[in-house]
Amino acid sequence: MAAQNRLVHPWPRPGPQKRLVRYLSMVLRMLPRTLQDGNPEDFAFFSPYPASNGHFLLLFFENVRVNEQVNAGLALVIGAGGGLGAALVSGLRQPATPGYAAPAVLALGRRTTPALDYTDEATLARAAQWVAEAIDTQEMPLRTLIVASGFLHGAVPGPAGERPAQPERSWSQIDPAWLAHCFAVNAIGPALVVKHFFPLLARTGPCVAGFLSAKVGSIGDNALGGWYGYRASKAALNQIVRTASIELARRNRQAVCVALHPGTVDTALSQPFAKAGLTVRSPAVAAGELLTVLAGLTPAQSGGFFDYRGQPLPW
Ligand SMILES: NC(=O)c1ccc[n+]([C@@H]2O[C@H](COP(=O)([O-])OP(=O)(O)OC[C@H]3O[C@@H](n4cnc5c(N)ncnc54)[C@H](OP(=O)(O)O)[C@@H]3O)[C@@H](O)[C@H]2O)c1
Repeated sequence: MAAQNRLVHPWPRPGPQKRLVRYLSMVLRMLPRTLQDGNPEDFAFFSPYPASNGHFLLLFFENVRVNEQVNAGLALVIGAGGGLGAALVSGLRQPATPGYAAPAVLALGRRTTPALDYTDEATLARAAQWVAEAIDTQEMPLRTLIVASGFLHGAVPGPAGERPAQPERSWSQIDPAWLAHCFAVNAIGPALVVKHFFPLLARTGPCVAGFLSAKVGSIGDNALGGWYGYRASKAALNQIVRTASIELARRNRQAVCVALHPGTVDTALSQPFAKAGLTVRSPAVAAGELLTVLAGLTPAQSGGFFDYRGQPLPW
């Protein structure tokens, strides 16, 4: 009976020398791909110290490659048709700030080809496929991702018609369709960006993801009230950014993922609320400031919420 259960090899087991040759040829075949991907877990296979989880070897190869990688990557701006989005695309193409140039800048929005609309997840999947093809054809990693989309005012279709078009001033104006649209554009859309585009970010070397949030999304800073949908959806965005930063750090220890407050900027979003005495900056100035902040952040600051001067903000 015992003989029946014995594992029978259909071919003779290779001797130790053959096994060593097979192991070495497998290492040689896998090494180029692993170097390209740079996932520490892949390196664990090669590491003489299993407890190091591969980071030991990855660190060695990263130090060899990192200098040539700084700035040598694609940048992607989502929400590129907006006031700040368009200025960020220009700022990345012709940087006022030395050291924050991107060799190629990809721009996505509702009016680009391919189009990207948060209310239709399939458009994000198609746009991500287009970015993946650009990474392949341009042979450059994706090192910068900026999400510059957002919604504060405008008509929202709902069962009670297109009302309200302006953010709530009182609880009496709370409207489910309005709240749903605020969350769809300000929180769920950026979460879908994480789902579809974060897997495309560089796995080694510098890499930065910045999401335009708003100081009014800070719970700790809320002394005025009002704007229920905008405030709550930006607070939700901040939580999504923080959560994604933790997962991203497991993929790339040098990655930075932050929420950013651009300050008051002269765009269609802020125009109805422009008040005398308020410091309003041009989109070009604000974009330059935001890019300077992004360039100066370190991985230790990933997961944070910063304003356009680089000052941390309360959640
Ligand atoms: N301007 C300010 O003073 C200020 C202050 C604080 C925070 N912010 C934040 O900064 C960011 C940029 O604002 P902005 O001033 O540049 O506003 P904006 O000019 O109104 O731009 C808004 C952007 O959001 C995109 N968008 C709207 N609905 C979308 C949807 N369903 N799917 C995909 N994209 C959508 C728009 O796309 P289309 O181009 O296709 O219309 C546009 O690119 C926003 O997150 C905003 O909350 C701005």
